[in-house]
Amino acid sequence: MAFELADRNILVTGASSGIGAGLAEAFAKAGAVVGICARRKDRLSEVLERCREHSPKSRMWVTDLADLSAVDALAVAVLGELGHVDVLVNNAGIPKRRHVTKLDADTVDAVMNINFSSPVRLTLALLPQMLERGEGRIVNLSSVAATLSSPGESAYDASKAALAVFSEAMAVDIWDSGVKVMVVYPGVVDTELFTLPDNDPFTATIEAISIDEAVKAVLDGMAKDAMQVYVPGWFAGLASSKAADIEGFLSGTAEYVRQQNAAT
Ligand SMILES: NC(=O)c1ccc[n+]([C@@H]2O[C@H](COP(=O)([O-])OP(=O)(O)OC[C@H]3O[C@@H](n4cnc5c(N)ncnc54)[C@H](OP(=O)(O)O)[C@@H]3O)[C@@H](O)[C@H]2O)c1
Repeated sequence: MAFELADRNILVTGASSGIGAGLAEAFAKAGAVVGICARRKDRLSEVLERCREHSPKSRMWVTDLADLSAVDALAVAVLGELGHVDVLVNNAGIPKRRHVTKLDADTVDAVMNINFSSPVRLTLALLPQMLERGEGRIVNLSSVAATLSSPGESAYDASKAALAVFSEAMAVDIWDSGVKVMVVYPGVVDTELFTLPDNDPFTATIEAISIDEAVKAVLDGMAKDAMQVYVPGWFAGLASSKAADIEGFLSGTAEYVRQQNAAT
């Protein structure tokens, strides 16, 4: 049976901009009560205002998900105010694009913290009440970087791979529970992720898709109870070719980087 969004309580992390903001608005338009969180209060308030045009009970929590105790407090606050959560969308994330020769351990920890430990912690906090009701959806935003091992962002790639594998193993553990898990692998989506400070410039020559396209793919995937969504879809084929010939794929990537460096 299709999973209806109307009248659901849906928590979206990292909803002050980009894909998260787009998803929050789409869920609100579909009649869901949306809970959103992020650090930038002003941007979050603007998104909330747009959500409330469709879903007046929607609400927001200004939260720094890098602080793991704040993640626990968020879960308590959300359950206290919404009563329960039907859908958790772990969307918040940071890139910290950095060549491995310039990468330090603290940066790796920070990336793993926000992109892996924090969504896992929030999932573990909200999963029991889903299991109790025998229904729920957990949607985790990974990246094609997880399966393609994108150069120049090894910490990001690893954090997104960790989140994807955690999601798959969790899906098996709760297979018969009524709670489903979906992993989203976006390619390049036109968001602020590529202009954030303290990142190496993004140099890959891949055409970006719009936030609306990414949002539509997530909603379509949820409607079908898909286990994974690649957007654009052709990245799924690329991931399969890498798996079939890892050496050929990585040497091809190295050649691509060489040519890009020569051109700049
Ligand atoms: N854009 C792409 O091409 C692409 C591709 C693959 C995967 N993704 C993934 O998609 C997700 C959304 O990214 P986006 O492209 O929409 O980028 P974005 O516009 O930069 O959105 C990132 C969101 O995460 C939030 N966030 C970051 N650090 C946080 C923290 N410490 N605490 C709370 N919230 C935090 C940001 O809010 P505040 O700054 O207000 O806290 C923002 O709302 C990320 O997980 C990203 O890795 C994106």
